[in-house]
Amino acid sequence: MKLCLVILIMLCSIYESFSRYLHIKGGLVVNHDNSALSDVLIDSETGKIIQVGGNFDDYVPPHTRVIDAHDKLVMPGGIDPHTHLDMPFMGSVTCDDFFSGQAAAAAGGTTMHIDFALPVAHDLVKGLEEWKKKAESSCIDYSFHMAVTQWNNKTYRDMAHIVAQGINSFKFFMAYKGALMVNDEEMINGFERCGQLGALPQVHAENGDAVTWGQTEMIRLGVKGPEGHALSRPSVLEGEATGRAIRLAAYVGVPLYVVHVMSIEALEEVAKARLRGQRVIGEPVVSGLALNESVMWDPDWEVAARYVMSPPIRAAEHGKALREALSRGVLQLVATDHAVFTSVQKAAGRGDFRLIPNGVNGIEERIHVVWQTMVNSGLMTSSDFVRATSTAAAQAFNIFPKKGLIAPGSDADVIVLDPNQEHTISASTHHSRIDSNVYEGMNIKGKVVMTISRGRVVWEHGKLNVTRGSGHFVPLPPFGPLYEGLSKQQTSIQLPQRYGPTPVRRAGAEADGQSEGRHEEL
Ligand code: URP
Ligand code: ZN
Ligand code: ZN
Repeated sequence: MKLCLVILIMLCSIYESFSRYLHIKGGLVVNHDNSALSDVLIDSETGKIIQVGGNFDDYVPPHTRVIDAHDKLVMPGGIDPHTHLDMPFMGSVTCDDFFSGQAAAAAGGTTMHIDFALPVAHDLVKGLEEWKKKAESSCIDYSFHMAVTQWNNKTYRDMAHIVAQGINSFKFFMAYKGALMVNDEEMINGFERCGQLGALPQVHAENGDAVTWGQTEMIRLGVKGPEGHALSRPSVLEGEATGRAIRLAAYVGVPLYVVHVMSIEALEEVAKARLRGQRVIGEPVVSGLALNESVMWDPDWEVAARYVMSPPIRAAEHGKALREALSRGVLQLVATDHAVFTSVQKAAGRGDFRLIPNGVNGIEERIHVVWQTMVNSGLMTSSDFVRATSTAAAQAFNIFPKKGLIAPGSDADVIVLDPNQEHTISASTHHSRIDSNVYEGMNIKGKVVMTISRGRVVWEHGKLNVTRGSGHFVPLPPFGPLYEGLSKQQTSIQLPQRYGPTPVRRAGAEADGQSEGRHEEL
């Protein structure tokens, strides 16, 4: 009897793995703009959604696996627009590579992420080659942003090459002095080049010079533990840099994406700019929404160091303001900034907080923590949730409706969420390689019970079924929606419009010829 049951289960799972089609039946399909009880039909071979409708029992082809989604929500897979897998940083390398980090993502309902490629010795092209190699072990879809860490003619040329390779965003670090940081001149040149190429400039907004000053001050005062990290990079420095980047983007006439908005000061800058009509996207991260800085004062150094990231996790009122801003659309989408270091790696900063590798986990927890803090609290509807965790990223990076939507023709990146299942986040059950979890002990009502990546079931019954090398690079085309009609817009800070940039021709003065371009052309 027992043997028969085992054989039956084996036959069922063999049938399931050979079924070309998936029929998700009876669930509430939630998109960013509506939700309805609908069935979804997926072709695993093409990796596409074929049909979404009422109940289409009559239409389902043979070799179809039926997935019962009654009382569950069927939503677009999460898109995490900010991760750092296998990244060399502050003397360490983040301990999740593309396989382990993406497996963790799949277990948490994320089916695509955009990772930050760093230049190699300031060389963008070499950096992209390096990141492409790292991503060969991918098991879900991914793409890249590219960081710009220096400015010269080669950077100018290479940015075009990077865009031609399917990358449509460049990140400028206004902090990490002596490593990744650029100055305003480099940033303005980079912004201008982004505008020419239709790429979206992104900023890590903290005043890096002032941070260095604050760090030295903390060490002088004898504050050498993780709390010194929080104290040396106060929110005023984030607000200043955010405002500066926003004004420079307006000056050059480009849209701007502010990564990891962590403070009231920064979100107010984003809000003011949007009110002025400027195209600015503000990205909060899960840690900023759900945690508060008190943990960096934990008497256990190892515990306190886990929470060290930049900009720092702030006092509780900042988290509350960020959640409210997200619920009202002042901030648009949620990322993780997943950059993980083990306790051994973090220990490099015992005795000097400036040496603690910065970063926290989140790639696996984002969907659940946002569900808990934003939807279960009543701050967001399930459609708002889809927009913030998936659709808005697909739109900003110009891959909507291929990603971020449940509709015929879209990629079959789908999650099934049981809103009644309760669970507790823990390092003992997560799939990342990090040996701790900044959300340890957080109780969540609502669980991703199935993740489908391009038509393949990669997470089900609490088990991963991921294959190395099966993830696809998703090219991100330039001139996305944030560029549409932008050149026709007048923002409040522009070149002096009244006189224009036309030279005045004066009798006797040397004729004003064409001024030299700032960069040699390609
Ligand atoms: O602390 C952080 N955020 N680490 C990753 C690098 C960055 O600044 O995004
Ligand atoms: Zn950053
Ligand atoms: Zn980051």
